[in-house]
Order: sequence, then structure tokens, then C-alpha cells
Amino acid sequence: MTEIIYPVWRQRLARSLHVNRSQVQSKYYQVASVCSNGAPKNRTMVFRGFLPDTQSLLSVTDIRSDKIEEWQGENQSRFEICWYFSDSREQYRLAGEVALISDSLEPSYESSVLGNQRKNSLLKQQWSNLSINAKQPFYSSSPKAPFDEDSILPIPEDRLGNQVNNEVNRNITQSNVADHDNDISNNFCVLVFIPYTVDYLDLKSKPQQRCLYDIQDDWKERVVNP
Ligand SMILES: Cc1cc2nc3c(=O)[nH]c(=O)nc-3n(C[C@H](O)[C@H](O)[C@H](O)COP(=O)(O)O)c2cc1C
Repeated sequence: MTEIIYPVWRQRLARSLHVNRSQVQSKYYQVASVCSNGAPKNRTMVFRGFLPDTQSLLSVTDIRSDKIEEWQGENQSRFEICWYFSDSREQYRLAGEVALISDSLEPSYESSVLGNQRKNSLLKQQWSNLSINAKQPFYSSSPKAPFDEDSILPIPEDRLGNQVNNEVNRNITQSNVADHDNDISNNFCVLVFIPYTVDYLDLKSKPQQRCLYDIQDDWKERVVNP
């Protein structure tokens, strides 16, 4: 098997994740999109790992959320991630295109790059990584619908196997949840962020260091002034 050699920025990022692993917020980044009227929009998301053997980053979301519409259609799939690691005082800004992976959306990335089998296993794996609490909103009313306590639906019984009692649900461990392989909500969507450029800033080094990387330049590192 050939060993994959990742770009320098990807190796730096893996190291930053390791060095900052004790900080829960190290797994959160801000992701920007552009609305159809040209306005920027920004939100916090959880980093859920790399697409295996690539430098693409994974997050999950609800297909009913505004960001999905913002990222659909021609020339609309652009994103920028801003990610700050507070222990090591490093910032990464990654820009590129996002691919939306869901059974409820028109195939895009998965047909050309992932293939159906890989798409299904990615959806399954990311869904099974979610806690019961994180799964709950996918079964509730749409994001931004007027709040109604009664609309907070319990997760359907058949989606939880034998664990139907709320009290029991609270005690379900992560590994129990991972056992339910076939319960993917139709609202579930995996986002694959495919970077084309990376802007890295290290505030801790003396002097401070800034490096730029571009896929068009074969990810060659360019050290520039901060
Ligand atoms: C710490 C934190 C983590 C979050 N992680 C996610 C996430 O992984 N996926 C997601 O869709 N929303 C996440 N959110 C909520 C989003 O920031 C945002 O409020 C929501 O997705 C609606 O955004 P939209 O209207 O731009 O679609 C998170 C919020 C916080 C504060």
C-alpha cells in the first residue's frame, strides 16, 4: 500500500489538533458562506474528522438549515473556515468548496468522487458517531420554525431499538448509540469541506509566522509577512 504524503498545512493541522486536544473548543470552527444576495454568513460548527485519505474536513448538519440553500446551486458552494487553537495560538483559514452528502439531496460530490458505497458508509459512520442528544433535532421541527415544546418529538422507537424510555435514553452510552446503524434521519447531511487555499498564522513563534498554501501551486508552502 502506498503511503499518503499530506501537504505541510495538513500535517500542521493534525499536530495542532493533537497539541490542543485537551480543549473541547479546539473541535469548533467558524464556517462562512455567501447568501444569494451577496451577504456573508458565519456559524460555529463541530469538526468531525477528515474524509479518509484526503485533506477534506467533515461536519454534519440538518438539510433544512439555511446554510444548505446558501451552498446549493451554481457557484454557491464556496466556504471559508476560520479555526483558532487557543493553547498553541495558531489560526487556520481554509477556503474552497463544500459538497453536501445526504440521501435527501441531489447527488453531487458523491457520484463523481465518493461513489455510492463510500457515500453510504460515510453517512452511516457520521450518524452513528452522534449522541442521542445530537440526533434529536433531526427528528424535530425545522430550524427557525416558531418554538413549540410539543414539537420536540421523541426519537422514533424503531430508531432506538429497545431503548424507548426517556429515562433510559438519557443513560444510553455512546457505544449503544453506535449500534443503531440503520437509523439515519432523512434530514441528516454530511458536509465535506474541500480546501483549495490555506492561510496559516502562528502567533506563538518569534517572529510570528504566516504561511500560504494553494492547491494550484501543489500546496507548496510560501512563508510571508504576517
Ligand atoms: C459550539 C457550537 C457547535 C455547533 N456545531 C454545529 C454543527 O456541527 N452543525 C450545525 O449545523 N450547527 C452547529 N452549531 C449551530 C450553528 O452555529 C448555527 O447556529 C446553526 O447551524 C444554524 O445556522 P444557519 O442558519 O447558518 O444554517 C453549533 C453551534 C455552536 C455554538
